[in-house]
Amino acid sequence: MDILRIRGGNKLAGEVEVSGSKNAALPQFAAALLSDQETILENVPDLSDIRFMAEIISHLGADISKIGPSSWKIHPLKIHPDPPYELVRKMRASICLLGPLVARVKRAKVPMPGGCVIGHRPIDLHLHALKEMGAEISLNQGIVEVDGSAMKAGNLFIGGRHGSTVTGTANAIMAAVLTPGITTLDGAACEPEIVDLCCMLKKMGAKISGAGSHLLSIEGVDQLNGCVHRVIPDRIEAATYMIGAAMTRGKIVLKGIEASHLGAFSKVMRESGVLLNNSQKGNLDVQTDPSGLSPFEIITLPYPGFPTDLQAQACALACTIPGLSILTERVYPSRFMHIPELLRMGATVSLEGANAIIKGGKKLNGAPVMASDLRASAALILAGLAAEGETWVHRIYHLDRGYEFMDEKLRKLGAEVERLPESSLPPAFRRPTD
Ligand code: EPU
Repeated sequence: MDILRIRGGNKLAGEVEVSGSKNAALPQFAAALLSDQETILENVPDLSDIRFMAEIISHLGADISKIGPSSWKIHPLKIHPDPPYELVRKMRASICLLGPLVARVKRAKVPMPGGCVIGHRPIDLHLHALKEMGAEISLNQGIVEVDGSAMKAGNLFIGGRHGSTVTGTANAIMAAVLTPGITTLDGAACEPEIVDLCCMLKKMGAKISGAGSHLLSIEGVDQLNGCVHRVIPDRIEAATYMIGAAMTRGKIVLKGIEASHLGAFSKVMRESGVLLNNSQKGNLDVQTDPSGLSPFEIITLPYPGFPTDLQAQACALACTIPGLSILTERVYPSRFMHIPELLRMGATVSLEGANAIIKGGKKLNGAPVMASDLRASAALILAGLAAEGETWVHRIYHLDRGYEFMDEKLRKLGAEVERLPESSLPPAFRRPTD
């Protein structure tokens, strides 16, 4: 296992290229299975989650290969409905296979996802949608088995207690595109990743209207074609670098960004004193106001609200800003595993239910810290960049699931970040649990 050693104190400066979106690409790999023709996906980030998905798709019988640094070819002439348990159980996003398998081969078997470090993540809404469309669902020894042989169009509400579901909506759309009749999905997610999935499906011949709103209408077709599709830029990755620039009081240019996907986040940053300027299409200049940053309040919500996937990084930023910031987590109310680690670095944060109250402004100190999930890893790395001394981030395999070449990109921006084998860790930097 690798660790990252960060020596804090350098201001981020220079240009950084935004990669393709992981959360858009993953369901698109699954969507390629809806046709028996060849699909080419471009701007796919090089991440372990993507490689996992490719391996699963290959086990399902599709011919899949990487044909360029960020392009994949998927040709699923014939596929079967049983993804390999050992691979599927390792990656939550493999649930996105459910819709395409049920639609294309009328059967699917996927493991029921278990506990997750960011909180309770049931799939009841995914199953509800399929059931409403006539699928028979059973649970045997932790495996969800779906029989879609009698699927029909339906009018259904797919929202839940926490609002809309992103991958649940993706599954319902992918199931409906090959189901005869007109299916309406109310309470659908309107994240850019869902809009991009609909855009790809339309290129394949699907009939979808309402993408980007909470009400989608899908007219099932007999078959879909392959297509060539370019994945949208990763809005969460882009925002993570914006926070990095703000935390180090640096100045960077993000290249290949889709600024319109970052509305709620950019508003909070601007109000706090981060200067954002769209100097040319696809570029965003980021720097902090010389008069300093102000604390902020955020509530995470489904899109277009403030994304839960930026809550941990925003928490790290708040630690560097004098005053009280309040972060309320409404999507995953217990997604706060980064907080005990930030406390190890000298942060002052108290947790009251789903609210993190941060008294910022004190200089963070480097420490050995443990990454618990993807976004917590990013938050701890950013905290390390702003801290005094050395920070060692353990378990960065979480980071490699979702940030393409983050250590390399940070080095190009002037940060002192080194990837090392865990064996190189000096005893003084071992954590009590190691
Ligand atoms: N929910 C249910 N029942 C369901 C599905 C979801 O109650 O059947 C609840 C969840 O427990 C949560 C809320 O609904 O409280 C939203 O969950 P959602 O289904 O939207 O999450 P997801 O589709 O499993 C995707 C991203 C996550 C991101 C969330 C929220 C992918 C592959 N994953 O997950 O990304 O946090 O949407 O925006 O797209 C990440 O990239 O680090 C990550 C965790």
